Amino acid sequence: VIITQGQYVASAVKQDQYPEADLPEIVFIGRSNVGKSSLINSLTRVNNLARVSSQPGKTQTINFFEVGVKIAEVEERKAFYLVDLPGYGYAKTGKEKRKIWSKFIEEYLLNSPRLTFVCQLIDSRHEPMASDVEMFNWLVDNGIPVLIIATKVDKIGKNERAKNIAAIKRKLGIKEISVLPYSSLKNEGRSDLLDVIGDSLLE
Ligand code: GTP
Ligand code: MG
Repeated sequence: VIITQGQYVASAVKQDQYPEADLPEIVFIGRSNVGKSSLINSLTRVNNLARVSSQPGKTQTINFFEVGVKIAEVEERKAFYLVDLPGYGYAKTGKEKRKIWSKFIEEYLLNSPRLTFVCQLIDSRHEPMASDVEMFNWLVDNGIPVLIIATKVDKIGKNERAKNIAAIKRKLGIKEISVLPYSSLKNEGRSDLLDVIGDSLLE
């Protein structure tokens, strides 16, 4: 799977702001600062396509990026949206604002007819937090397909990686399902994720 283009399309906090094109959507969700926006830049290889910050709470709207791919195995071109969401589990902006966020994010996740699957990102350095487990269960309960991605694996060693990925599976209760390790810094996991995306677009 080869990315042929990536561009910013729209930001939304309500339904009439969603983009109009009828394209499948692949969504990135996770705690603030886990690396959602960085992963979008790494995947598309377009620097600064999604805005990144070392301060949590950078992304505050639902951001749509149109991506074109060529799936070499079947000689097909496809277009889809990568969707960057604001992080959850970040207290600093105050309760009121967080509540509004979760409401428009929830509205989006429950009502988008073109949602293909959600990538839930979890920091590979720590055990999943309560908010991660809650989000995972909420997605599963609502019938939304989820791929778990362990981020920032460049920051830990091989042993720790195996141990922490096992802990993620244990905490989420997903023994059989695999967790995809990713490093946006080193582009590790990129081709694996592109394969998953390619398969989902051909279904
Ligand atoms: P919000 O928009 O606040 O929800 O955060 P986000 O999940 O979009 O995180 P973002 O991509 O902005 O990255 C947060 C910080 O983590 C930045 O300082 C990134 O440079 C850093 N970061 C992201 N991915 C990686 C990675 O794979 N490796 C390393 N070492 N740092 C990373
Ligand atoms: Mg972000």
